[in-house]
Amino acid sequence: MENRIMTSEYLPEDDRDNPLRPKVLSEYIGQNKIKENLSVFISAAKLRKESLDHVLLYGPPGLGKTTLAGIIANEMGVNFRITSGPAIERPGDLAAMLTNLEEGDVLFIDEIHRLSRMVEEILYPAMEDFAIDIVNGKGQGATSIHLPLPHFTLIGATTRAGQLSAPLRDRFGVVLRLEMYSPEELACIVNRSSRILHIDCNQDGSLEIAARARGTPRIANRLLKRVRDFAQIMSGGTITKDAARQALDRLEIDELGLDMVDRRMLESMIKHYDGGPVGLDTIAAVIGEESVTIEDVYEPYLMQLGFLSRTPRGRVVLPAAYNHLGIEYNGQMML
Ligand code: ADE
Repeated sequence: MENRIMTSEYLPEDDRDNPLRPKVLSEYIGQNKIKENLSVFISAAKLRKESLDHVLLYGPPGLGKTTLAGIIANEMGVNFRITSGPAIERPGDLAAMLTNLEEGDVLFIDEIHRLSRMVEEILYPAMEDFAIDIVNGKGQGATSIHLPLPHFTLIGATTRAGQLSAPLRDRFGVVLRLEMYSPEELACIVNRSSRILHIDCNQDGSLEIAARARGTPRIANRLLKRVRDFAQIMSGGTITKDAARQALDRLEIDELGLDMVDRRMLESMIKHYDGGPVGLDTIAAVIGEESVTIEDVYEPYLMQLGFLSRTPRGRVVLPAAYNHLGIEYNGQMML
């Protein structure tokens, strides 16, 4: 994959000790409904001196699922242990993590939809009864050891809740769906980040960055750093509306936050397939990306803009996208 600044996927530069990640709920901007509910659940669990119920966070990448999980651990005053679905290869790996937890700890499993079935089966009794059964040997002679675990909170994160098996999904007491952020919320995030990074950015500058960050804080923060480079060289260091515009134009990120890859995808669907319906695998082959990346990373924002729809027969480019790209729709300019 080319080095795509607009990707909402996690990159090494977004590292986990990122100073931009808020540590407490009151510093977390946006997702107001989620924050209000979580703050009640956290206070109530603390009052009862219990661990928090298991939480499932789902939504497109880059919206702050890991950040929110870290905040929950911090607000509960417990350890935050991180792993991910693909990293847990064998049931023994998960058993080792579970038996090392302390009372009340948060275990965060990113990409939880990618757990193998065998690993998942360890998780069921761990979540429900706070115990695991370790089987020794095979067949008639097999013995099993029942191992109690400390009470813990599992926080699972996924971009695709639909792919979670029903028994796993049903074991989460709290299921929260993260929404894309409004430009105003993203501008607040950019303001906060520029204060932390000592970047001089005025209100119009942060709004300009926010407008092109496709509803995603991770992208907003990444754009802020790139725009700073341009502002330092071209406009005396302050990120103004003009400086942000010039920088983002140079990075080929348009007013709505679409980059070359998005535009190439939409244009080739229009040019070669008359706007669709086009199968996902065909799109993937045309632009040289994996189907899952297209589904998880590219499509959510294009659908949010009303540029693309998923139909049973394939993807269809909608009139608003023609308008944005300056292409005639059914022989008409859409103005
Ligand atoms: N950084 C990333 N996501 C954030 C959020 N929701 N609020 C504040 N800072 C953030």
